[in-house]
Amino acid sequence: MSNCSQRVHIAGSDLSFSCQPGDTILRAALREGLAFPYECNVGSCGNCKFELLEGEVKSSWAEAPGLSEKDKLKNKWLGCQTHALGDLQIKLRTADKYKPVHTPLKTEGWLRGSRPITHDLSEFRFELAEPMAFSSGQYALLQMAGIQGPRAYSMSTQGGNAKVIDFQVRRTPEGVGSSALFNLPLGERVEIDGPYGMAYLREDAPRDILCIAGGSGLAPMVSVARGALNSPQLENQRLHFVYGARTTRDVCGLDMLETLDAWSTRGHYQAVISGATADAPLQAGQLQGFAHDAVNDIWGDRLADMEIYFAGPPLMAQSLIKVLVDRKVPMDQVHFDQFY
Ligand SMILES: Cc1cc2nc3c(=O)[nH]c(=O)nc-3n(C[C@H](O)[C@H](O)[C@H](O)COP(=O)(O)OP(=O)(O)OC[C@H]3O[C@@H](n4cnc5c(N)ncnc54)[C@H](O)[C@@H]3O)c2cc1C
Ligand code: FES
Repeated sequence: MSNCSQRVHIAGSDLSFSCQPGDTILRAALREGLAFPYECNVGSCGNCKFELLEGEVKSSWAEAPGLSEKDKLKNKWLGCQTHALGDLQIKLRTADKYKPVHTPLKTEGWLRGSRPITHDLSEFRFELAEPMAFSSGQYALLQMAGIQGPRAYSMSTQGGNAKVIDFQVRRTPEGVGSSALFNLPLGERVEIDGPYGMAYLREDAPRDILCIAGGSGLAPMVSVARGALNSPQLENQRLHFVYGARTTRDVCGLDMLETLDAWSTRGHYQAVISGATADAPLQAGQLQGFAHDAVNDIWGDRLADMEIYFAGPPLMAQSLIKVLVDRKVPMDQVHFDQFY
């Protein structure tokens, strides 16, 4: 672990930043407002790769899937898993879209409550030591005692400056971090670091909104929907919410949206179920199939006029992107997080 205030210089630019003790290179850069590319923050996507030109670093997770053996031979490292051991020169292409909209804050939170949403999805409420400013749709990193590495969980709370935030988490079979969260006693403390993520609500985009949540992607889409339907800037926009579920017992979210004042006049919910069975048949209004096919069938060419948000497993994200590209949706109208 670094004991820095080491400085990291981005070669070929006048950009540099310092690392605080324990911070990864990515998070240190974001805390100083630098547009360091990233997505997952947990070692899986590979977007935060940089080349080390000078200096010494240490990885907190050498086997992280985001880095290949070929990358390692080229002295490439993952910004989200790497700590500086001294001053560094790195090669990296920054990109404006990664510039943080809120400075990530390292704080702590205490579990104040939890409630089941479905058979394997629960909501967890944390009270923070200090308020965290975030935009609807962003995520935070939760570091639980005794667990190797933090886990990324999206806030379901509407963006703002919040001292109490909710997460909606699926218990992953044999998942170490999610199981620890489900077993966390009330009052227990976790380290919370956030906000992160680029799939946040664009209140300056005056288009109808489509939110698509797959499985555990519910939380950020609920947050975006809450933010959008409560936003004076978006008061003329409709909001469509698609929930892609495996079975009818996984369907959720509508009850949270119906409590919003604007829902009855501007909201619309569609559940799409990939694996309905004779034992658990479709219910009224539900569609059989995959979320990306339903989106394509229902909105077709109208997708190009919408602001589109989605969250869920990488397979769903890839299928949706293909539909949106085929429908010629400008990619600056598309905002998503893949849940690795
Ligand atoms: C941006 C983003 C937002 C997400 N939001 C949500 C959400 O709102 N709700 C939800 O249910 N899920 C969400 N996820 C998925 C969530 O972060 C976990 O991957 C999921 O809960 C499974 O974690 P697990 O510990 O139970 O499973 P495991 O299989 O034990 O762990 C998988 C996760 O832990 C990380 N990891 C594993 N080992 C290490 C290590 N040694 N060091 C560092 N990291 C390690 C992996 O990168 C991976 O993220 C999100 C993921 C991302 C990337
Ligand atoms: S942001 Fe580092 S691997 Fe995804």
